Amino acid sequence: MTVPLKFRQSIGCNAQERLLSGSSAAKSDLCETSWKSTSGALIGSTAVAVIAFIYVFLQPTGNSVSFTIGIFLTGTVISLTVGKPYTLFAWNCFLKPLFTKKPSGINSHDHQQRLEQFYESQAAIYDVTRKRLLRGRSTLLTLCGAQLRQHYPCQLSDLNPMDERATIHRTRQFSSKPIASAAEKSVPASPPPSPTGVGRKRLAWIDVGGGTGENIEKMNSIYPIENFDVVYLVDITPSLCQVARQRFQRLGWENVRVICADASKFEVPAEDEPEDLEIALITMSYSLSMIESFYPVVDRLHKLLCPTGIFGIADFYISHKRSLDPTRQMNWIMRWFWQIWFDVDNVYLHPCRREYIEHKFKMVKTLSARNRFIGPIVQIPYYVWIGAKEDDRMPDFKLEASPAVNCDDVLTKCGSDRIIKPNNAHRLPCVTVNHAHGQGRRWRQAFDIKHQERFSTYIYAFTWEDPAVDLEFMGLGTNDRMLVISSGGCNVLEYAARVGPARIHAVDLNPCQNHLLELKLAGISSLNYTDFWQIFGEGYHADFRKLLHARLSPFLSDASFSYWTKNANFSSLYKTGGSGLAIKAFHLIIDLLRLRPAVERMCNAETIAIQSRIWETEIRPYFLSPLLIFILNNDKFLWKALGVPPAQMQMLIDEGSAYEYIVNTFDPIIYQTHLRTSNYFYYLPLMLRYVPENAPAYLTEEGYRTLQTDAARLDAIKIHTDTIVSVLENQCLDGELTRVVLMDHLDWFSPEGAENEIRAVARKCAKGAKVFWRSAAKRPWYNAIFERHGFNIVMLQIREDDTLYIDRVNMYASFYCGLRS
Ligand SMILES: C[S@@+](CC[C@H](N)C(=O)[O-])C[C@H]1O[C@@H](n2cnc3c(N)ncnc32)[C@H](O)[C@@H]1O
Repeated sequence: MTVPLKFRQSIGCNAQERLLSGSSAAKSDLCETSWKSTSGALIGSTAVAVIAFIYVFLQPTGNSVSFTIGIFLTGTVISLTVGKPYTLFAWNCFLKPLFTKKPSGINSHDHQQRLEQFYESQAAIYDVTRKRLLRGRSTLLTLCGAQLRQHYPCQLSDLNPMDERATIHRTRQFSSKPIASAAEKSVPASPPPSPTGVGRKRLAWIDVGGGTGENIEKMNSIYPIENFDVVYLVDITPSLCQVARQRFQRLGWENVRVICADASKFEVPAEDEPEDLEIALITMSYSLSMIESFYPVVDRLHKLLCPTGIFGIADFYISHKRSLDPTRQMNWIMRWFWQIWFDVDNVYLHPCRREYIEHKFKMVKTLSARNRFIGPIVQIPYYVWIGAKEDDRMPDFKLEASPAVNCDDVLTKCGSDRIIKPNNAHRLPCVTVNHAHGQGRRWRQAFDIKHQERFSTYIYAFTWEDPAVDLEFMGLGTNDRMLVISSGGCNVLEYAARVGPARIHAVDLNPCQNHLLELKLAGISSLNYTDFWQIFGEGYHADFRKLLHARLSPFLSDASFSYWTKNANFSSLYKTGGSGLAIKAFHLIIDLLRLRPAVERMCNAETIAIQSRIWETEIRPYFLSPLLIFILNNDKFLWKALGVPPAQMQMLIDEGSAYEYIVNTFDPIIYQTHLRTSNYFYYLPLMLRYVPENAPAYLTEEGYRTLQTDAARLDAIKIHTDTIVSVLENQCLDGELTRVVLMDHLDWFSPEGAENEIRAVARKCAKGAKVFWRSAAKRPWYNAIFERHGFNIVMLQIREDDTLYIDRVNMYASFYCGLRS
């Protein structure tokens, strides 16, 4: 058994530091900076005062002299007292570089001298003055901590345990430290195993260009530092290293070593037995842009990082003229301005730095943002990027035919060794690739970025078709392989929770619909039920952003993570997206008409009779008014908010009036279903939340636990962002599918489009497979195409004559099944 080393830190400058500093004179220079701080403060404050003087002097007022003296004195006092750190900061960053002659060489020694000149008089005030300038550092640490926990769960002083889920994380098998008993259960949705073996290596973190060590101190509340056997802070600037040493001595952290060295030359000290260390985390926060020769540094770090380790970076950046990733693109003024501005302080922003990182490591998560701390106009671009080494042991997801498909002819066609490779795997600029930290790719398949550019949000925040009726007619079994439209993801999860088929291809052309489904999957995999319910049941969680970074992020693809980071500030999940627009409009109307109390009483009525009475006497007269019909008749509103395209509206009008359709939809719902206890489809938009006894299966505690504890049910789900035809052609085997749920989407199609899709469905369906569709028309025109392609049509439900209630949504006029002959 290996005994963890305890490391002693030296407070004075060490041998490496002296070597770089060049002489003992240089050393004393570095350690005696206080007189320089004071003179810097004086010069800084005088500069502020002089600026104030000039400003006031130019004012055309009568008593300007006394006013100027007042301002001068006030300016001096402020800049020498509360404003001292910022005066010093301004002096060092903006003025001093203009007057100081710096060493011009590119070797380590000159680089160190330059940095020391820059930092020596601001080391003591570094943390205070960088708080708002160097944004993204907390996000970086939180994301690294979250990702790290997937492979290296905290065993000691976990200050931030994720309640019940914390107990089912994988144990850290390689550690020599005792394993907490709570961590002994196996993980249901297990991350890739640590390949490093059992009981051998000790855990290490290198913070490159770690400065004063504040990040390491902060990390303690995210991933407690004592879980690392050793942490190295490597920094070339002696005065900052000095502050770091004092910090760790104050904290009494003996496992943190401050090494004053050029990162390009950093070696794990021999006394730490490098061969016995697993370097699981390497971070660079705002240091890559300061390192002159960054290529060897990145190469070196790539070598040092272990295969299951995480590399994290936060820094300023500028984009290329044309960037693959639209979120990082900036105009030419910004590109040039920030590059020149930072160059004065020897901070280099050329895009090749970020690009080289992305070349060496594989992206796990990234986000590009703007720091507006100076004001809304000044937006300093920064990014956070988490990556890992490519891990060849984790092959890309391949589609394999199940040997257990229940149709004989499928078995003969699809041996389990037959594999289809997605033909668009090369076009995946915005989705993480599979590697040791590829949890975010468990469900989401690579997709073409052009789809991302087309959609800024989803239409449906929840699925608007009744899965209870689907399941009644479907006869779904655990061997079935389905293709369904993702929509809000509720029905995909309903099938998974209630039955658990062998494969569910969830398809949607709108990437945002799939981001929503991914969020639900990530929530089931990483949150406790209370938090999960708050987000999806109540539609609001005050700490959503925190949960997103600390818990959900490892389970989300990069694209989904970026989407939710950008859209994390919602007051209700159900007011987001296109359907959210409809819900907001509806709530505005009920407020204007003062109908809210009546709507609430109706939704919470004890019986259907009371509910119907309130509807009939207090709501219906307004609700089915000409104003509402006018709104509903508007093409743009119908499409953007309700997802009803013009073609579908036309089908509906062809068989009667819009008014008649609406009356026949809503009246039966109110008269035949009890909203509070059995119709969440209407309770949700009216009350903006679910109630536990009336919610989709994935949201009930039972459904959530079924999915959480049975990884196979979740992993059967593969999320595709493409057209159905393309997914069928490229991602499914001929004769593979046994169930297909097309919802109402054929209503949207032209005859050629419908022909193409039905032909592709027919080819991929096994004999005896069942295809389901709903329509706004009672007898949709495309039924004939199904017949032509070998399907026997069975009408399951039709809304006419005496049967005006067909399911809890009751929005569609008919529901059909096509049996593949
Ligand atoms: C802007 S500071 C960031 C410090 C700290 N990581 C933070 O987030 O506050 C950049 C740091 O990079 C260090 N640095 C620059 N070049 C370096 C090199 N070649 N090797 C090691 N450290 C370097 C500087 O000394 C400085 O502390």
